[in-house]
Amino acid sequence: MHEASHQLRCVGCSTVTSPDTVEKDFRCVACGELLEVEYPSWSGGPFPGPRRMPNPGALRWLWQERLQSKLGIDQSGVWRFRELLPILLYPEQAVTLREGNTPLYRLLRCAEELGLEHLYAKHQGMNPTGSFKDTGMTAALSQARERGFQWVACASTGNTSAAMAAYAARARMSSLVLLPDGKISWSKLSQAMDYGAVTCQLNTDFDGCVRVLAEVVRRAPVYLLNSVNPYRLEGQKTPALEIAEQFDWQVPDHLIVPGGNLANSSALGKGFLEMKHLGLSTRVPKISVVQAERANPLYLSLLHHDGREIQAMQADTRATAIRIGNPASWRKAARVIQQTGGYCEQVSEAEIALAKAEIGQEGIGCEPASAVTLAGLKKLVRQGKIDSSETVVLLLTGHTLKDSEYTIDFHRETLLTAEESAGLEHELTLRRRATLSLDASPDAVLRVLEAAIEA
Ligand code: F0G
Repeated sequence: MHEASHQLRCVGCSTVTSPDTVEKDFRCVACGELLEVEYPSWSGGPFPGPRRMPNPGALRWLWQERLQSKLGIDQSGVWRFRELLPILLYPEQAVTLREGNTPLYRLLRCAEELGLEHLYAKHQGMNPTGSFKDTGMTAALSQARERGFQWVACASTGNTSAAMAAYAARARMSSLVLLPDGKISWSKLSQAMDYGAVTCQLNTDFDGCVRVLAEVVRRAPVYLLNSVNPYRLEGQKTPALEIAEQFDWQVPDHLIVPGGNLANSSALGKGFLEMKHLGLSTRVPKISVVQAERANPLYLSLLHHDGREIQAMQADTRATAIRIGNPASWRKAARVIQQTGGYCEQVSEAEIALAKAEIGQEGIGCEPASAVTLAGLKKLVRQGKIDSSETVVLLLTGHTLKDSEYTIDFHRETLLTAEESAGLEHELTLRRRATLSLDASPDAVLRVLEAAIEA
C-alpha cells in the first residue's frame, strides 16, 4: 500500500525498492548503499504513469493556514508540510511533540565582526528535545509505529537517542539506545534515561556502537532509527521549507551545516532541491558542511578523492555530537555539496570553542557541534569564498543546555590545552566569563560592578 505514495531508490546503483520489502538495515540489496525516499507522482526524474505536481501557490497558502490550526499535526513544523512527505498512510496519527517551527535569528554582532550584511541562525536546538533530531524522529518513528513495531533502536552520540526515547515514549513504544561510554554529555544521557529508554553505554565509540547495533537489529525484532533510515531524512528536510518560508520564499545564498554522520546536510539538500523542482523557489542555496579537524573524513574525501571514496578514521573532538569517523551518509552529503556549489571545511577545537562563546554572547547559545558552523563561516569569509552581500544561514543543531559541562570548562579555562589555544589566546580570553566567588556583602558586589562598568 505504501508504494502508492513513495518508493526507495539506492543512491549508489539506482535500484528501486518497495517500502514493504526494504531490508532491516535500510541498505540496497544490490550494492549495499543507502536508500532515498522518492515520490513518483512528483519527484524529479523520469517516472512512468500520471504526474500530479502540487501547485506551489496553493501549498504555500495551505502551510501558512495550518499555523492557525489546533490539530497536532498542523502545529508540527514537520507535518505542516506533509504534502512533501507523504510517507504515512494515516498522517493524522503521526507521533508528534510539535517539533519544528523553530526561530530564525539575526546574528548582528557576528555579522558585524565578519563584515557580512545578512547573517542568520536557524536554531534547531529550539525543538522539543533540544536538537534537530526531533524533525527526523517524528517521521521515522511514526513510520515504525504504522508498520507495527513495538521496539525501536539507535546508536547515538546523544541527541538521536534523546529524540528517539522521547518519541517512543509518546507512542507507548519501547526504545533501545547504544551510546559510547564516557564520550557523550550527561544532559543527553539523562534525557534517554528520563524518557524511559533501555540505555546501554558501550566501551567503544559511536562507530563501534553502530556496528554492534547492526547485528542486534539483524537478530531481534527492532526497528532501526539511525539516519541510514531514509524516513528520518524526510523529516529533517522540512527546516529547508521553513527557512524558505521565513525568507518569503527567497532562499538564502548560503546554508552552513555541521557534519557528523552527514545525514542532515543530505536531508536539507534534498529539501531545497525538491522545492526548486516543484517551483516553490527559484534556486537552491549553496550548502556547506563543517567538520571538526580530528573528525573530518568528508573533508579529506573531498580534498583527496573528489568525494568519490572515503577513508574511515578514528575520530576525536570535544564536540562529541560529531565525533564520527565513518559517516553513513557521506555519499549523499558529498553529492549535495557538489550539486549546490558549497564547500567542506574543517575547524580546530579552539575555533569551535571561540565560535560557541560568540554565539552565546548573541544571547542565543548552542551546543559545541553547532558552533562549527560559525567557525567554518569565518574561514570561508577569510578565504574570499563568501561575499559580504550574501545572505548566510548557520544551522544551529543543538541547544546550549545540551552540554553545559563544555561551556563551564571553557569559561573556567579548563577546556583547551595550551597547544590547542595557540594563536587564539587573546580572542579566547576576551570571551571568557569566569564566575566570581565573593563574600555575601553588597560592597564586594559593588566593587565588581564598578570594575565591570569601567572596563
Ligand atoms: N549537531 C548535533 C548537535 C548533532 O547531534 C549531530 C549528530 C550533528 C550536528 C551532525 O549531524 O550526523 O546528520 O551530520 N548527532 C548524531 C546523534 C550522530 O547520534 O545524535 P549529522
